[in-house]
Amino acid sequence: MTMEFCVPCLFGLEGLVGDELRRLNMPDVRPENGRVRFSGEAAELARSNVSLRCGERVLVELGSFPAESFEALFEGTRALEWERFIPRHGAFPVKGHSLNSALHSVPDCQKIVKKAVAARLGEKYGLEWLPEDGDTYQIQFSVMKDVASLWLDTSGVGLHKRGYRPASVLAPLRETLAAAMVTLARYRDRDDFCDPFCGSGTIPIEAALAAKNRAPGLRRAFAAEKWTTLPPEIWQEARREAMDREFSGDYHIFASDIDPKAVALARQNAARAGVAELIEFSVADARQFDRPTERGVLVTNPPYGERLMEKRAAETLYREFGAALRGKENWKLYLLSSHTEFERTFGRAADKKRKLYNGMIKCDLYMYVKL
Ligand SMILES: C[S@@+](CC[C@H](N)C(=O)[O-])C[C@H]1O[C@@H](n2cnc3c(N)ncnc32)[C@H](O)[C@@H]1O
Repeated sequence: MTMEFCVPCLFGLEGLVGDELRRLNMPDVRPENGRVRFSGEAAELARSNVSLRCGERVLVELGSFPAESFEALFEGTRALEWERFIPRHGAFPVKGHSLNSALHSVPDCQKIVKKAVAARLGEKYGLEWLPEDGDTYQIQFSVMKDVASLWLDTSGVGLHKRGYRPASVLAPLRETLAAAMVTLARYRDRDDFCDPFCGSGTIPIEAALAAKNRAPGLRRAFAAEKWTTLPPEIWQEARREAMDREFSGDYHIFASDIDPKAVALARQNAARAGVAELIEFSVADARQFDRPTERGVLVTNPPYGERLMEKRAAETLYREFGAALRGKENWKLYLLSSHTEFERTFGRAADKKRKLYNGMIKCDLYMYVKL
């Protein structure tokens, strides 16, 4: 049974997610604004969940149709084959959004979609009232320019949650964005890799996972693993296939932070991710960066200074970090910051820049291919 899938992603990462899907041999990959679509069977559903590094979740599409009125939304939704996925006892909460459409009230659309799916399933299962006491089949809808699209979320908790980082860390970087930075830096295991502002360790951990080609979803569960309407063996096969793709090498990954508590937390997170032995952690001041090795790549996310006073402190930090890096001509730098004065204070214009979003914060990835 061929299905249509959609992977929403952070703006700016569509191309990277598309490349990832192609490398995983997914058929018919189509990057769009803020998402990438592809098609495949149940096996691809499991493989994409287990292996994607930069995508946020995997949605399976039920259908798409024009919906300028509530009647059209109701009838269009009821016409879709929900029983292919949602069994008699399945719970099916609904969420979604609407943009540039006559149907602009999201709560009203939500109610209509819920009613229409209940009507369809009630009819198919011969039930007047659906118990919804089984596993969850999260419905997502969007109404864009009067066209409704309906999906089921196969991931559950977002794919950025790999399972190695507790919820409570301060100013963390989203794992999917850290993975994207590592990919953009083209890190390979031959060079030194260093994050001198490592915080909770997200960037070096994602670098270690990428270097080993370890699938980020090996150690977590996905909503669709509980779906009785999918063949259960797809998950084990996806994990086995991902483990077969792993390799081992000689890695030189260094991570440091000025805050000893951050370094301790980063160590714990790396252990949870199963990559502790690949990363050398230390407490160090990035303003005194002085790795003795000849060549390498720095991928990092220093403080941005969101408030005015902090902005000044961030500028001083960038200036001193820039001075510490002067003359390290065989090192490359990929640095993410939302600070508009970064290049001026760091002391050099970047060779390339790329706009990326860290949650709601608009940032630039400053790329220096030679320092
Ligand atoms: C935006 S956070 C990094 C978050 C990290 N990417 C993560 O995912 O948790 C910036 C980090 O820079 C550290 N820092 C600030 N000044 C520093 C300095 N002079 N040297 C090294 N680390 C510093 C802070 O302690 C903080 O952990």
